[in-house]
Amino acid sequence: MKDASPRAIHLADYNPPSHLVEEVHLTFRLDPEATRVISRIRFVPNPATTGAAFELHGEGLKLIWAKLDGAEMSPTLTDMGLTCAVPDQPFTWEAEVEIAPAQNTALEGLYMSNGMYCTQCEAEGFRKITYYPDRPDVMSIFTVRVEGDAPIMLSNGNPTASGEGFAEWHDPWPKPAYLFALVAGDLVNHPGQFTTMSGREVELNIWVRPGDEGKCAFGMQALIDSMRWDEQVYGREYDLDLFNIVAVDDFNMGAMENKGLNIFNSSCVLASPETSTDTNFERIEAIIAHEYFHNWTGNRITCRDWFQLCLKEGLTVFRDAEFTSDMRSAPVKRIEDVIALRARQFREDNGPLAHPVRPASFVEINNFYTATIYEKGAELIGMLKTLVGDTAYAKALALYFERHDGDAATIEDWLQVFEDVTGRDLTQFKRWYEDAGTPRLKVTEDYADGRFTLHFEQETPRTPGQPDKPPRVIPIKVGLLSATGDEIEPTRVLEMTETRQSFVWDDLAAKPVPSILRGFSAPVILERDTDDAERAFLMAHDTDPFNKWEAGRALALGGLLAMILEGATPDQSYLDAVQTVARDEALDPAFRALALGLPSQDDLAQALHDRGTTPDPQAIWDALETLRQARAQAMQDTATRLYAQHQVTEPYRPDATQSGARALANTALGMITRLDGGAQAQRQYDGADNMTQQLAALSCLLQAGKGEAAQAAFYAQWQSDRLVIDKWFSLQVINADPVQAVAVAKSLTQHADFTMKNPNRFRATLGALAMSPAGFHRADGAGYTLLADWLIKLDPLNPQTTARMCSAFETWRRYDTTRQGLITAELDRILAVPGLSRDTSEMVTRIKG
Ligand code: TRP
Ligand code: ZN
Repeated sequence: MKDASPRAIHLADYNPPSHLVEEVHLTFRLDPEATRVISRIRFVPNPATTGAAFELHGEGLKLIWAKLDGAEMSPTLTDMGLTCAVPDQPFTWEAEVEIAPAQNTALEGLYMSNGMYCTQCEAEGFRKITYYPDRPDVMSIFTVRVEGDAPIMLSNGNPTASGEGFAEWHDPWPKPAYLFALVAGDLVNHPGQFTTMSGREVELNIWVRPGDEGKCAFGMQALIDSMRWDEQVYGREYDLDLFNIVAVDDFNMGAMENKGLNIFNSSCVLASPETSTDTNFERIEAIIAHEYFHNWTGNRITCRDWFQLCLKEGLTVFRDAEFTSDMRSAPVKRIEDVIALRARQFREDNGPLAHPVRPASFVEINNFYTATIYEKGAELIGMLKTLVGDTAYAKALALYFERHDGDAATIEDWLQVFEDVTGRDLTQFKRWYEDAGTPRLKVTEDYADGRFTLHFEQETPRTPGQPDKPPRVIPIKVGLLSATGDEIEPTRVLEMTETRQSFVWDDLAAKPVPSILRGFSAPVILERDTDDAERAFLMAHDTDPFNKWEAGRALALGGLLAMILEGATPDQSYLDAVQTVARDEALDPAFRALALGLPSQDDLAQALHDRGTTPDPQAIWDALETLRQARAQAMQDTATRLYAQHQVTEPYRPDATQSGARALANTALGMITRLDGGAQAQRQYDGADNMTQQLAALSCLLQAGKGEAAQAAFYAQWQSDRLVIDKWFSLQVINADPVQAVAVAKSLTQHADFTMKNPNRFRATLGALAMSPAGFHRADGAGYTLLADWLIKLDPLNPQTTARMCSAFETWRRYDTTRQGLITAELDRILAVPGLSRDTSEMVTRIKG
């Protein structure tokens, strides 16, 4: 059990390590109940901290013996691990510890998944494997020997020897302990091969359980594409002779970038047309790229301490987004990312869990792998690139890799390379790293005598611990359109640095229509009083695809808010405009599918809260349903035509073209289902030969209340495929009528295939409930109680996943006092659990505020 009285750690208290590690040798004698880990570590006093006490991290370890320079001794065990007196010069530490991987349900450290040994060390899991200075600024060269009876035994770097019952590995690149990995089990590989830009041959493997070999080809191609892309775009070459990926079923997150041995949640690497949707394929490609890109942004250059997490994560998310934009459609990727940013990061930034991209303190670092660190962190890189321009960005990155290769670096180091390359002062830009909260950007305009002016005002709201915030530099991409829809001048980047600032265009013959914040050039909430006519005009004419989509989104949002707040009927100008876009064959089908998307229930709740009203989850649901029904009726012919036109007849490919066609056809199917009661969806279900088509049809049928037979057939067909059965679990909850959702989720927790030991299955069931607002926020509180019951059950087994899922409650202050009371009662119930983990208690405490 972790420390019962959690204490915060502060960035300001950073101290360099007392000792550096020259090299480390580890021997693992694998055994499910009693694995022995023997370590031999060469320590050197850090010249920067002479005389500092020697302390090693360790958690849940049974120390068998310890030696200092060959002499057995007894260290003093402490809260964090151990300490002992050491010589004032280099020395060798040796120890043997015992751990029980089969008992490790937290999935951190060395654990077992389906009989296979695997590790997860980021952020602070290595200390559950052996005594070590488990901090990212201590980097060392690892040599590993694995002893056991597993047919395949892997670790980082290159294999150096193997034989009956053992395998040895050596990683020549110094790395922090969080990048250590070991995998051992009955695995089969899907091999691949890559020749680097300098002509070196690299052996590639995706390792899976027997039976999953057929689901590796796509991931392998994604890996090869990523390796090529990083050479071409960033000049980054791979640096070992071998690159291994392993798929693991029980995993707390998506994937992990361990040096030369990436470990993936099987849901983020295994793919086949029959079992994966187009969305799954796109996500898998992006995650493989993300982990691969970490080899330079994260591994070769790592983080000095965990406060600098965004240094590797924000940059790597930015890089994987660039990769996806190049592989697929840049506008579609940008729109998808902004939808996700608003849904997850804006939600976080505007609630009790708000924190800066570089936090100043934390209790449990696992709680800071957040949308803010990752997604807002990536937005900051994008803004920096916009501000300095593409050429300077490329120069700065080249300098970053050259100057900091092998370093454990900081955000200051990162910004310094941009300052050195451009001569710019980035002091004001740094506020984006230090202040939490989503800036509100208000804009008004005037036009007289050929002069057009945009007046901007920025304000960043208060967040926990941060009352007032000075203005930050905001890059605002703006275009001007004429009344006939022509571009008056190329997109310009306005650099706003003041609280209030105006920008002027002269000599215009007529009042232009501004297109503001093109490409979503800054992560802000833009507030602009405009009318439906102008939104419809921009939806029809804006040449910036993001703002074209955004105009439609604003139109839909405005109409929905009027329905909720004023009882208005569905907005005709939205219905007309969206129909025009849907029919416009000059537009990418994937874009049209996105344009037909509606704000989510949670988007609407956030928008209502922002406008000072209390959202009613059922009223939000009803308005969305009414609008969807009205739209289906208004677009009947269009939907039928789109559905027919976008049937893919070629063999399945998960590429942008085919998936765009399927996305549009399936959006049309949703409309058709509202009018034909599910006949077309049933035909699609019966004839589907890929998961995208099958799942879309099943969703439609479930929404129409006609899904019972298909749902049973789906289970019968896929019961032996864990990843598909995860979809079966979540789909039933997500597509349930809100009145039923809690009961559906509850009965699924009683299903024979439900297990809380598998995070994917737990999230597919209870995470799905939390993502169905009208059901989750039932007025009687049954949704809150069900989730809290299960979080309480999961916490002793897996604190990390429990804590992450507490964020379902982070929006509680938006709601009415009755719901607030129900939620806080559940939060108090969780907090009162004896022995509650540090992870969960930090989250619940922060959520309560
Ligand atoms: N560094 C990983 C990534 O973003 C994510 C990660 C951090 C992780 N901690 C983890 C993954 C714990 C699994 C478990 O790529
Ligand atoms: Zn990452």
